[in-house]
Amino acid sequence: MDHSDLQAIIAEHAGRKGALLPMLHAVQKAYGCITPEAEAAIAEALNLSRAEVHGVVSFYHDFTPAHDPRPVVELCRAEACKARGVEALVPAAEAAAGGRVNLKAVYCLGLCSVGPNARVGDELFAGLNEARLVELVQSA
Ligand code: FES
Repeated sequence: MDHSDLQAIIAEHAGRKGALLPMLHAVQKAYGCITPEAEAAIAEALNLSRAEVHGVVSFYHDFTPAHDPRPVVELCRAEACKARGVEALVPAAEAAAGGRVNLKAVYCLGLCSVGPNARVGDELFAGLNEARLVELVQSA
């Protein structure tokens, strides 16, 4: 992690109200993780304790403590997608993912009426059935 880039991200958000979450998202996006060093720098910049920052990092599924190089498939497991049958698709998706793909649960992708839904990178996939989800995981 290049420290000057991290400081630039911190400086960009530091003066704003409610800076912590946007700052964490920006660091996660830039580095693929939020390391203990980044947590410490953010805590210092926002005048928070490291424990407070770490608590937020560990609470949200969006933040990861170490870079995971595997491709990510985000599968919505929130209520509307549950009602539309996502849980029945999970075992096949997990089997297809094995250790190669990071199959991540997310909670609402904003397409509730057409679930089950998933996201790969910036692309959304709606109305998944087992075969389409398995194909998505295999091609990730
Ligand atoms: S609940 Fe799955 S997209 Fe909203």
